Amino acid sequence: MEVKNKIILALDVNTMESAMKIAGKVSDYINTIKIGYPLALAEGLESITQIKEEFDCNVIADFKVADIPETNSKIADLTFNAGADAVIVHGFVGNDSVEACLESAEDHGKDVFLLTEMSHPGASRFLKGVSEDIAAMGVEMGIKNYVAPATKLDRLEKIRNIVGNDSFIISPGVGAQGGDAAKTLRFADAVIVGRSIYLAEDPENVVKSIIDGIKL
Ligand code: C5P
Repeated sequence: MEVKNKIILALDVNTMESAMKIAGKVSDYINTIKIGYPLALAEGLESITQIKEEFDCNVIADFKVADIPETNSKIADLTFNAGADAVIVHGFVGNDSVEACLESAEDHGKDVFLLTEMSHPGASRFLKGVSEDIAAMGVEMGIKNYVAPATKLDRLEKIRNIVGNDSFIISPGVGAQGGDAAKTLRFADAVIVGRSIYLAEDPENVVKSIIDGIKL
């Protein structure tokens, strides 16, 4: 996926109105938007379709899909049919569940991002212990797209070493959760930024300063 300026906007707002407004303010700099449960549950899968139509951007659906294979298939099909270019899938559920999403992605000509480890402190208790194994499973399955945390650079580096330099890693946790974009991009291909953009008085300015910080 070609991510302009290496920044993905996490559009975790509750209304289509504010989603459109914020995306509009940064659309000169951002071509990839992550839509997760807040917007999709508030406004439906139609939110994916509308954002894609309005901004002609990449849409990554962050549904952290984590069910049995048969249900995962249905979730992935619905997500891709709504227009998403990629879906984020949990790895801890095992290879058969992930495979179901990969098959759906292949049928639709879309992508799967495998979530290895999460960015919040609580992830240390369970996910940290298995995240390297999840990344290794992804490699065995031929997956090329991964999610790994910007808040734990040592973990991000470990996951990069496992998935290799030809894989594409997107990394959440920059800004509000404390991660730094430039440092994260030493190991990741793009950063995911939510609150520090969509809660800002001037989202465009925040995006510009992230871009400047990356160039330093
Ligand atoms: O607001 P903030 O910049 O912290 O947003 C981070 C985004 O990345 C949120 O949408 C969150 O759900 C998502 N995310 C994460 N950690 C992961 C995967 C996704 O924080 N491992």
